[in-house]
This record gives sequence, structure tokens and C-alpha cells, in this order.
Amino acid sequence: MKITVVGTGYQGLVTGTCLAENGHQIICVDRDADRVAALAAGRLPIHEPGLEELLARNLEEERISFTTDLRGAVGESLMVFLCVGTPVGEDGEADISGVLDATRQVGAAMTGYKILVNKSTCPPGTAGRMEEILRECSEHPADVVVNPDFMKEGSAIDDFMRPDRVIVGCGDVRVREIMRELYSPFLRTGKPILMMARRSAEMAKYATNAMLASRISLMNQLADICEAWCCDIADVREAVGSDSRIGPTFLFPGIGFGGGGLPRDLATCIKLARDKEVPCDLLQSVKEVNDRRRRQLAARVISHYGGDLTGKLIAVWGASFKPRTDDLRGAPSLEIIDSLLQAGAAIRVYDPVAGPKISARYGDRVEVAQKYYGALEGADGLVIITEWNEFRRPDYARMASLMRRPVIFDGRNLYTPSVMRQHGFDYFSIGRPAS
Ligand SMILES: NC(=O)c1ccc[n+]([C@@H]2O[C@H](COP(=O)([O-])OP(=O)(O)OC[C@H]3O[C@@H](n4cnc5c(N)ncnc54)[C@H](O)[C@@H]3O)[C@@H](O)[C@H]2O)c1
Repeated sequence: MKITVVGTGYQGLVTGTCLAENGHQIICVDRDADRVAALAAGRLPIHEPGLEELLARNLEEERISFTTDLRGAVGESLMVFLCVGTPVGEDGEADISGVLDATRQVGAAMTGYKILVNKSTCPPGTAGRMEEILRECSEHPADVVVNPDFMKEGSAIDDFMRPDRVIVGCGDVRVREIMRELYSPFLRTGKPILMMARRSAEMAKYATNAMLASRISLMNQLADICEAWCCDIADVREAVGSDSRIGPTFLFPGIGFGGGGLPRDLATCIKLARDKEVPCDLLQSVKEVNDRRRRQLAARVISHYGGDLTGKLIAVWGASFKPRTDDLRGAPSLEIIDSLLQAGAAIRVYDPVAGPKISARYGDRVEVAQKYYGALEGADGLVIITEWNEFRRPDYARMASLMRRPVIFDGRNLYTPSVMRQHGFDYFSIGRPAS
């Protein structure tokens, strides 16, 4: 099938490439001409494992193309996927103007019946507004489908190819069958495709992220209680996670969640509740606990050096909001680096892929190291922010020999406190008795 994908950010690129990999003919549209030119030449603007190879193969086999010409692309396609950004304001309100603008453009380009599939995360009721816009802009019939996206940056290809479930919000039986057929190659392992009303499908995305955020904040609060009472959250987590009613995932304590999705969707969920005067104190607390985590780690570092970091070099391992991506949106690293800079520290960051983005953001205010041991030379302390695999089993003796002072603030609990003590480190982690 010929399919247009509007938007070539993380979501649009993964969606377009994975659909092309399944044999569809994909036209990816973006209004950013530089991005389109780079993608047409096989150059990715983002880091996502496996995407470059997949894109190269589908470009080579001419199943995927890139253009700024939305009108031409829509004219040729039965289905149009919307994958445009939905930023969130300070008050949690989702800005869906990009989705509505793109809908208008699609409506104006329609030359016959179309199925418009919205993958962008939008509040309940958005699909209804999109439908109205299409009716205003075109004399041709159209169906609007809600198909929320649950991909995780860092494992997005796998998430698209082998989803836990696919959600389709759509009332029309024929369109449901087209969606079922489209997704059937991805659901061969028996995972479900859930058909529901569009508003429920829109809400499902917010509800899922609110649930995941709640687990993380709850674990982080339990970690603080463990630390205060000299218990080890790692043991407690195992005990909790092996309860079949709870399960082991999303229970790792740390410096809180970040990224373009979880914090924003939580904030929007709170706003949705407030708009209808539904009490949302639980979700509000989930957010406050999370917002506090970054400040807590920065405060711990600063107080360790007596409140002033002037003349101190602090190394930072990991800057992206999670491993296997270079995405800095909502990354805890940014707030922590800002606080340490403000306290007078010199900062040297190593991240396997996000270094260029850190340089672009901070310029010469932050040094970016090319190697992870290199970041440690002469450092007065190391702050671990993102749990990249390569940080998990380093040569501790080498680390200690490189650092001016062997002090580690581990925001991800990568190491065993007793082992770090043996290697002479002052080692501070989350929810475990201090070394
Ligand atoms: N990034 C993720 O991991 C993820 C996961 C699940 C859901 N989502 C949702 O997916 C949506 C997109 O997220 P993203 O991270 O890919 O966004 P992004 O901002 O990285 O990319 C959006 C792209 O759309 C293009 N665009 C916007 N309006 C356009 C128009 N009218 N015509 C052509 N191009 C247009 C922009 O130029 C940009 O390249 C959001 O609603 C987000 O919440 C993202």
C-alpha cells in the first residue's frame, strides 16, 4: 500500500521505515527541507539503534522516499499517518496546533477518500476536531483513526516491529479491518490489536504513561525511605517486583524520568483532570516527586563540597534522558549540569552519542570528553546520570587513579557500595546506605 507519513522526527522516521520494511511504499513528508535532503541521502538527524541500516536498505530498494511536497504525497496515498510534534506548555496543556495545521494541509490536498491516522499524542476529542477540519477543507470523504504510539527511544524499532499491543480508535468496521491488515505482520506473536472508541484510544496513551510515571515516583520515594532507615532498595525492589501482582519492570529507583514523553504526558493528564475539576492529587504528587529528584542529586553533590564548587572539576557520565538515544528533551542531566555550573563547578561530560548536542547547548561552558575514562582525568567527583551499558563494569582502579578525588554520585545505582568502598571511593547512590 502507498502510505504518506507526515513528520520525520523520532516517531515518523521509525513508523515510516518499519512500514517500508514490511513492503509498503512510504512517502515521508517534512516541512524542514534540510532534514528531507539529509534523509533522502540516508543521513539521520537522530540516533536510534538499527534505524540507519533499516533506512539504507529501504532507500536502496526504493520503498521509502522523502519530500516536502505534502500535496503530492497525499494525492498518491490512501492512508496518511500524522507524526508531528505536540509540545506541552508550562500548565500541561498539549499544543495540538501542529496536528490541526497538518490536518488542514491534508484536507486541502485530498483528491479522493483518505484514511488519516493520528499517531501524535493528543488529548481526547482531538480526532473529532480533525474530522471537522477535513470536512471543512475537502469535499472528499475521510476517516480519522487514532493510533497512539508506545515506542521507546533506544528500542523504537523493536517496539514497532514487536509491540505489546496496537491500539486503534475508530468506529468504522471497514477501516478497522484495514488497520488490522496493516498491523497483522507485527502481531504474529499473538499480541492483541485493541479496537476502541477514538476518545478512549487518545486517553490510553496518557493513562499508560501516568501509570509508568507513578511506579517510578513511588519507587523513588520508597528509595528515600530505605536510605533513611539503612535498608537497601535493591533488595526491596526484588522483593516487591517478584510479586506477580506487581511485576519487575519500571521499578528501578534513580534520578527520575525525563524525555519528550513521560513528563509531558503526565503533565497533560493532570491538566485533563483539572479542566474537568477531577481531583488529581495522586498524579500531582507523582510529578512533584519526580521534579525533586534532579534537585536532590545536585544538592547532594554541592553539599558534599561544602556548598561551593569553585575550582572543582566534576565529571558527568551520561547526558541523554535514557541510554541508546541522543535525545536531551526533558533530560535530568540538563538541570543537574545547570545547578553544578551555578555552584561554580567546571563540568566535563561524556555521553556515547549525545556529546554534540551537549556542545550545541552549552558551548564552551561545558567540556565534552570523547572517551569515558578521559572524562575522569583530574576530576574531583563523578556524577553518573544515564545508565549506558559501558558504564556498568568499568575498571575501578583505573577510575580511581585518574580522578583527583575518588568520589562518585551514582544516580542509577550501577555499582555495589561495598565494592566501591574496597576501591577507595566515597560512593553515594540512591536508596542504599551511604558508604
Ligand atoms: N519521540 C518518541 O519517542 C515518541 C513516542 C511516542 C509518541 N510520540 C509522539 O509522537 C509525536 C511526534 O513526536 P516526535 O518526537 O517524533 O516529534 P519531533 O518534534 O521530533 O518531529 C516532528 C516532525 O514533524 C515535522 N512537522 C511538523 N508539522 C509538519 C507539517 N505540517 N508538515 C510536515 N512536517 C511537519 C517537524 O518538522 C518535525 O521534523 C508527538 O505527539 C509525540 O508525543 C513520540
